[in-house]
Amino acid sequence: MQISDSWPGYSLDLFTYPQHYYGDLEYVLIPHGIIVDRTERLAKDIMQDIGDNDIVVLCVLKGGYKFCADLVEHIKNLSRNSERFISMKVDFVRLKSYHNDQSMQDMQIMGGDDLSKLTGKDIVGTGRTMKVLLNNIEKYKPKMIKVASLLVKRTSQPDGYRPDYYGFEIPDLFVVGYALDYNEHFRDLNHICVINDHGKAKYRV
Ligand code: IMP
Ligand code: MG
Repeated sequence: MQISDSWPGYSLDLFTYPQHYYGDLEYVLIPHGIIVDRTERLAKDIMQDIGDNDIVVLCVLKGGYKFCADLVEHIKNLSRNSERFISMKVDFVRLKSYHNDQSMQDMQIMGGDDLSKLTGKDIVGTGRTMKVLLNNIEKYKPKMIKVASLLVKRTSQPDGYRPDYYGFEIPDLFVVGYALDYNEHFRDLNHICVINDHGKAKYRV
């Protein structure tokens, strides 16, 4: 699903959001309900592709936790309501690379002992994070690796990484909400929103 550069978004006044973020946001890029609905469809596509294989879901923290939890929930529901029973394990890794809204050179990977098959991620920006993670996972020689990311950013990066599944392709904007953060803030916002200059200044470190 493509969100074009000219998409003005939705007015914040049409929805509810935490009072402590009043004045810090520009507009709603993707409302929470649409995120959940689109994730349900990704779950269906994934179910179709994995056949009878068991899966290990590797959630990339912290930003991927909402997407991963909703995706797993949808896969569980689809599996329960069909005649196919997919056994699922869940594991977590934590990556950190951003400072303010800038991608940093050094990347930290923490945790994850059972690395294989399906990874659930928040957003692919430059794609740098995903490449580092995949290099690490491949050492474990999994039978199959599929990457699902809620968002893919249209960056100017020519070697942009493309996940196997993604929810939305978005303009090259810094977004927050639905677990995506700006210096650890805004994870408690349901909708995916564009932060304004006031918000950036307020939470800059
Ligand atoms: P990449 O290495 O540039 O692809 O960045 C990927 C990681 O950076 C994501 O997993 C996010 O945690 C973070 N990131 C990239 N763009 C954004 C954004 O617009 N908002 C919040 N976090 C972002
Ligand atoms: Mg972050």
